[in-house]
Amino acid sequence: MEDKRFYRTVRFSATTITELMIPSYANFGGKIHGGILLSLMDKVAYACASKHAAGYCVTVSVDTVDFLQPIEVGELVSLHASVHYVGKSSMVIGIKVIAENVHTSTVRHTNTSYFTMVAKDQQEQLKMVPGLILENEEEVHHFRVGRKRKQMKEMYKSELSKLEEEIDAEDIQEDLEEERCMIVF
Ligand SMILES: CC(C)(COP(=O)(O)OP(=O)(O)OC[C@H]1O[C@@H](n2cnc3c(N)ncnc32)[C@H](O)[C@@H]1OP(=O)(O)O)[C@@H](O)C(=O)NCCC(=O)NCCS
Repeated sequence: MEDKRFYRTVRFSATTITELMIPSYANFGGKIHGGILLSLMDKVAYACASKHAAGYCVTVSVDTVDFLQPIEVGELVSLHASVHYVGKSSMVIGIKVIAENVHTSTVRHTNTSYFTMVAKDQQEQLKMVPGLILENEEEVHHFRVGRKRKQMKEMYKSELSKLEEEIDAEDIQEDLEEERCMIVF
């Protein structure tokens, strides 16, 4: 029987990082590099996950990083992270990214991404993470969506591995007929 004391609230580990977008973060077009944002997202995901798990975690997977709007030099970027779902050793951390222009007081939601983090012990073995105490409807919704996302990833993975088994050259030719490619072997 699982120890019910081994549970933590979402609030306990919710973490926000705010960073000023300085000129050295910009690309040749003068906008903020996607890689800078990815690095900040990884940082806040780690902070949130390691707090929930009370220890070392690694990033396993990153889902849906869509940069919908560019971020400008001089803007303040806030990354809000919280645990959306927990399995045994894994946690899905939802990260909401907000860009703020302090001169015009404009606030934009630029993207939401989901990082899967896994907890490990000092011997680098997988470690069971605390369960999640859901305190409102939004947290329940996040948890259910996180579970669905995990199931869909497993289905997606098995569909892709089926594709690798399809080696009939004629079928492949037919399958790719409408696509913009030429098979030259
Ligand atoms: C991630 C890792 C621990 C998985 O190890 P494994 O022996 O394959 O373990 P499992 O298959 O049992 O997976 C462990 C957990 O991760 C989850 N997981 C594994 N691969 C996943 C993926 N691609 N996406 C989402 N979750 C994944 C599993 O569902 C499982 O969750 P659960 O314990 O909550 O049920 C291992 O591959 C690893 O250490 N990778 C390197 C991570 C790293 O160094 N990251 C930094 C990159 S620079």
